This record gives sequence, C-alpha cells and structure tokens, in this order.
Amino acid sequence: KRFNVAIVGATGAVGETLIEVLEERNFPVDTLYLLASERSAGSSRTFRGKSIRVQDLANFDFTQAHIGLFSAGGSISAEYAPKAAAAGCIVVDNTSHFRYDDDKPLVVPEVNPEAIAQYKTTNIIANPNCSTIQMLVALKPIHDAVGIERINVCTYQAVSGTGKPAMEELAAQTASLLNAKSIQSKVYPKQIAFNVLPQIDVFLDNGYTKEEMKMVWETKKIMGDDSIEVNPTAVRVPVFYGHSEAVHIETKQKISAEKATELLNAFPGVVVLDEHVDGGYPTAVTDAAGQDPVYVGRIREDISHPRGLNLWVVADNVRKGAATNSVQIAECLVRDYL
Ligand code: A2P
Repeated sequence: KRFNVAIVGATGAVGETLIEVLEERNFPVDTLYLLASERSAGSSRTFRGKSIRVQDLANFDFTQAHIGLFSAGGSISAEYAPKAAAAGCIVVDNTSHFRYDDDKPLVVPEVNPEAIAQYKTTNIIANPNCSTIQMLVALKPIHDAVGIERINVCTYQAVSGTGKPAMEELAAQTASLLNAKSIQSKVYPKQIAFNVLPQIDVFLDNGYTKEEMKMVWETKKIMGDDSIEVNPTAVRVPVFYGHSEAVHIETKQKISAEKATELLNAFPGVVVLDEHVDGGYPTAVTDAAGQDPVYVGRIREDISHPRGLNLWVVADNVRKGAATNSVQIAECLVRDYL
C-alpha cells in the first residue's frame, strides 16, 4: 500500500529535512505534494531523483493527500490542519498548536506509540517539542525501571530550531564580527554569535519561557504521569544543528550509573557514548548533527543526592527533534492503522 503525502512548509528547515527523511527511510509514498507560501510556490525540490514543484498551500485540495506533515508554524497549522483533517487527511503536526489538547495524541514513537490510536478522534497527531523528544527518549527506560520523581534540565539549543532566518542571522553575525563589522539582531532579541541567550520562545506570566513550560507540560502528557516534576532552563547557543541537554533526575528508587547505562544501551533510538577520557562524550556538531539517534553520555550518580542521576543528552533537533520523529509517527500509523 502506498500513500499520498503532503509536506506543509516544505521549503523550511524542517520541511526540507522531511523530504530527505521520507526518501532515506523509504516511506511508502505514492505522490508527494510540497506546499509552502505563495512566496516560494513555483520553486522545486528533489525527491527520489525527481523534481517536484512547490505549490501554494492556500490553493491545495487536501482530499488528494492521505497524510499531511505540517511544519510551517503554529498559525498556519491552526488554520489549515483542521481543514486538512476534515478532508480526510491525517495530520502529523510539528507545531505546538495542538499539543496540549486532550483530544489529540502527543507522540514519541519510542515512548508512547499506543497514543497514536487516538488520532481517530480528530485526524490530528501532535509531534512534541524538540527538547522534550530527546530528553524523554533518554529517560523512558529509566522511568520504567525505577520511576522518575523530578527532572532538572538545562538545554543548549541550536538555532535551526528557530528556522532558516535564524541560521542566516548566526552566520551573518559571525562573519561580520570576524571582519570587525557592525551586526544586527532581527530574529533574536540579543546577539547570538559568540553568545548564549537564556530565552527560547516568549515569556509567560510565571517568569518561565514558553519553551521551558513546553518541557513541563509535554513530559507529563507523553509519559502519562502527572506526578513527574520538571524544572527547566532553556538556552539558545550559537550552534547550527543539534540540541544538548544537561539532565539531572531524582528517581523513586536509587539506580546506579552502571544499571542506567545498561538500560540505555538496550533502548531503541539511543546510542550511549560514555568513556571517561578526553572527548569520550557526544557533542552536537561531532556526533548528532545529521543523525537520527539520541546520544547519551556523562552518565553518573549525583554526589549531592542519594537518588540522583546525571546525563548529557544530545540529538539533531531538526531530525529526531522534528522531521524524523514525524516520519516515525507516520510509519506507526501506516503499519498499525491504515
Ligand atoms: P516559504 O518558503 O514560502 O516562506 P522555517 O521554519 O525554516 O522558517 O520555514 C517555515 C516554512 O513555513 C517555510 O516552508 C515557509 O514557506 C512556510 N510558510 C510560512 N508562512 C507560510 C504561509 N503563510 N503559507 C504557507 N507556508 C508558509
């Protein structure tokens, strides 16, 4: 069986990666539709050696598509995903717009694939936030074994998560500063080149940023456990691809670093890189960028807490954090339901 697939936001950082991932994983695509705004309609992208023209989303008839992979921003999903769903197209939405709706599943295939069944209610499945996805892939086997009470996490997030204009801003600022020229910040509120910004997404009333609260809300929903406490700080760093996270957990029962390593080694989607030597850990640029696994290193017991464990978790935010996770959801959907 083959499926007609529409990519909404096909010219963006995630959309272009969706095209690559569908091809690499040999997803059973019949016709691929590439959709974006009228600005890039008429340009083209290559899929399986053939050139496909980008069409204007506003004029697309979603009855033609079995599956829609949406990654063009929350307001576009708000308007078009329900229309697509009503036309019979099953939407996998990469924005935060539907993630907290009780009637829509929020899925990481390694963690809660059973939740996909709920798609039948609305024809919409939400893809989680990039930082949450990689953290939960690493924490799921530990939660299943000993129970996690609390997660303290600080992220170090790449600019590709903001989209192409942010990648251009980092490149332009870096080049300008190296040439002693003045810089402009348009995408980010402060200079991102050679700097670190403790703000991702907008500020909320409680003083946390929305990115931080996404990690709190989504962890509870995906793990199916409202008792897990999450204390996040989300930070943007001048890296193009790959989010890193320092994750500190407190478990119900003590778990040794050896046992955690054994569980992580056996868990699908995880690669442990943890040697106690110079460079014996994963980094965004040297390990995760362009790859699908979640890399885990620096696994060690918390010397300040009897049931604490520390981990360093790295993944490509555009791949496992967005495109690959969406395609994996679509794979589960066609395998188990269509
Ligand atoms: P376009 O190239 O036409 O602007 P990124 O996250 O990398 O910035 O990408 C955003 C994606 O969302 C792009 O593919 C962009 O297409 C698409 N997009 C933005 N606004 C719209 C819109 N109004 N209608 C359809 N697609 C849009």
